[in-house]
Amino acid sequence: MADQDQDFQLSNVQGDILIGLSKITEIFYFFQITNPAAFQSQLPNLTPLITTADKATGEKEAIRAFKVRKQQKLSGIITGDVLPVVGVNIAFSQKGLVKLGVIPAGTDALDEPLFAAGQKSDAFALADKGVGDSPEKFTPDWDEAFLQQTHEIHGVLLVTGGSFDMVNDKLDAIKAIFTVDNASSIAEVATLAGDVRPGKEKGHEHFGYKDGISQPAIKGVDDVDGKKPLPGQTLVDLGVALVGRGKDVENHPKRAPWAKDGSFLAFRKLPQFVPEFDKFLVDNSKPIEDDFPDAPNPADILGARMVGRWKSGAPLRITPLADDKELADDPLRNNKFKFNPDSQEMCPFAAHIRKMNPRKDLLKFGPSEATVDPHLILRRGIPFGPEVTTEEKLTKRTKYERGLYFVSYQSDLQQGFSFLQKAWANNPAFPFPKNPGVENFQPGFDPIIGQVHGEVRAMTGHNDDATDESLPLERQWVQSKGGEYFFSPSIKALRTVLAGQPEPTPTQ
Ligand code: HEM
Repeated sequence: MADQDQDFQLSNVQGDILIGLSKITEIFYFFQITNPAAFQSQLPNLTPLITTADKATGEKEAIRAFKVRKQQKLSGIITGDVLPVVGVNIAFSQKGLVKLGVIPAGTDALDEPLFAAGQKSDAFALADKGVGDSPEKFTPDWDEAFLQQTHEIHGVLLVTGGSFDMVNDKLDAIKAIFTVDNASSIAEVATLAGDVRPGKEKGHEHFGYKDGISQPAIKGVDDVDGKKPLPGQTLVDLGVALVGRGKDVENHPKRAPWAKDGSFLAFRKLPQFVPEFDKFLVDNSKPIEDDFPDAPNPADILGARMVGRWKSGAPLRITPLADDKELADDPLRNNKFKFNPDSQEMCPFAAHIRKMNPRKDLLKFGPSEATVDPHLILRRGIPFGPEVTTEEKLTKRTKYERGLYFVSYQSDLQQGFSFLQKAWANNPAFPFPKNPGVENFQPGFDPIIGQVHGEVRAMTGHNDDATDESLPLERQWVQSKGGEYFFSPSIKALRTVLAGQPEPTPTQ
């Protein structure tokens, strides 16, 4: 850990950033601040309820121990299926910080232009669907709440827990903090609720693939007190996650000092067209020639080649021909792989996980610390919407909205979420193979999240016998319905600047 990070404490950081709040259910309560002075006087009553990173760590351990006891049927004294653990975090948009008078209007006090402008201004560059052929004239095809034409979004409360009742009770208690004499200092803009999927699909996103397997490890958090990164897990600088730490200090010397130990939160509502995705896999998969016992079905192979992992989570780079559930469930092996920058036979260059974390693909451009690590993000999303119904399966058409509430934390949006979406997922030339072998070769778009205005996307590598062959991807199966960029401040900042008190001093 760098010298300037010796004072770092998990208790000063909100829990969802570095550790992740424990969640079966999560509510995102997007709010407007209607009375800034009242809000600032009430905020000190919320701050003690915020789940800090050290608290989140303790709760994760308690939940793990509870699950073990449950498995051993020793949980006698604890009734119910889940521990009554509820998590609370809060984050603010630029408009919210301006409304509170923390940032002067029209400035970029956090030295983060995408945050200052808001996600709607970034929608054209992200290649979200919409109307208008330039960023200025563009109106994205987003949900009304995120267009913010009538109500600005000033902040978001993240409330997580083991059941809707737990989470709703906590949200009511929070709303009560901001209400005096029936007058509230905040107003709801939208409330979105996400759920971990039921039964065997727990931990899987709606296309059916296990999610949350690969996350970067953080220096000073995951390599202290006897902990060490898992095999294959990248250990990144603390400043990749937190503002005012590690390399973030030299990259952004102009940031407001109170922003230290905070992180930028990118929220995206990403509906998924599951029956249509499944139909595409069936229609476009090639029959298996050398059949063998337990051979996967052709649609599963194509799907795995689009994601880079089998539905179980087993990485194609280790097991390209068939799923391997044991490997998938083994944290000591399921990330222990590097890509071969010369080849996409085992895993397509365009596969979602290869686009998002090219591991050793970029070595010819320099060390991973410079080429890949600054772009690693901490993902904390949750699925939303019902399971696919029989009717939807039969008609192969989506009737009910479902998808992913994508959440990522990073110290720098331009290097993190926004870069991954624009420079890698949406860029058919990325990654740049060392020896393409074919003139003008392009790996293609990330088939899961890649986007482009007005073109049909394509990918290569879907066919392991002819990896240069191009597969047109007839539509996007993930389509953004909007979002916002937020800043998740430190506990010290919540106690001081955000509550209308003087800035924290370095020793505070
Ligand atoms: C509905 C949309 C999405 C779906 C269905 C999806 C699905 C997945 C799945 C199944 C994995 C593999 C499991 C894992 O390694 O944790 C994964 C990994 C990942 N995704 Fe996504 N994802 C979506 C959106 C996004 C977006 C918008 C981004 C960022 C722009 C992103 C970035 C990543 C990253 C960084 C990884 C880890 C790659 C690695 O380190 O190997 N994903 N995603």
